[in-house]
Amino acid sequence: MRLRIWRSDPTTDEPGSFGEYEIDTFPDMVVLDAVLAIQRSLVPDLAVRWNCKAGRCGSCSAEVNGRPVLMCTTPLSLYENEEALTITPLRTFPLVKDIVTDPSRAYEAARRVPPFQPDPNGALGAAEVERQRELRKCIECFLCQDVCHVLRDQKLYRQFVGPRHLLHAASLELHPLDALDRRKPVQETLGLGYCNVTRCCTDVCPEGIRITDDAIIPLKERLADRSDPLRWVWDRLSPPRKRRALPVLPSDDPDE
Ligand code: SF4
Ligand code: SF4
Ligand code: FES
Repeated sequence: MRLRIWRSDPTTDEPGSFGEYEIDTFPDMVVLDAVLAIQRSLVPDLAVRWNCKAGRCGSCSAEVNGRPVLMCTTPLSLYENEEALTITPLRTFPLVKDIVTDPSRAYEAARRVPPFQPDPNGALGAAEVERQRELRKCIECFLCQDVCHVLRDQKLYRQFVGPRHLLHAASLELHPLDALDRRKPVQETLGLGYCNVTRCCTDVCPEGIRITDDAIIPLKERLADRSDPLRWVWDRLSPPRKRRALPVLPSDDPDE
């Protein structure tokens, strides 16, 4: 099989270019196997980041034929009808070398999400445990950040934290044991309004998290509540508990 891999070292003045390599394949080979075979036998200085080789650590993210994937869980057989496999680094992050990028920007964005604030009156039911489990499956591969056009094309890194961090904000905002009302920071600091719900982030998530439907849309609904004048009056007449806007399954009612 023929692979084209992006080679570039930003610490030199040399422009980047594709290296082209032929490799023998074996059944069930994944993209990462192919890259490591090339590194082992043809180009020992090829930079590639990986760790678990099991789809758990999120470190082997790259773009294969233009689509962001985890290289360790992507079978070569998916591309058997392609002329060549083209492997490039994630475009949304600064390049370190070859196909390795620096995700520091995502960690900086994570610090903009207001942290958990315990609510002594909160109650956590079975349905909420399940929702929290789903929202917390993220392995921080940042494929969703890579594909989001607000970051990838518009480069609004300061204005918009991106889908991974909106997911984190939603897991806290929807958490029954959290007391903080994040609607203002979600709008003003995290930039929720820049998301136009294209669902591209959900399409590439290797954990199958429904980022748009389960996190971003509920956050947008909470903001809509805030701009509704009747809701505003109701919020001020109600006891200072924040999280009764979402429907809860019967089994989740602490009074039952
Ligand atoms: S749904 Fe929103 S966050 Fe996800 S890729 Fe589209 S614009 Fe970005
Ligand atoms: S939400 Fe999904 S795509 Fe985004 S970083 Fe987490 S696991 Fe990766
Ligand atoms: S090496 Fe850990 S997810 Fe691919």
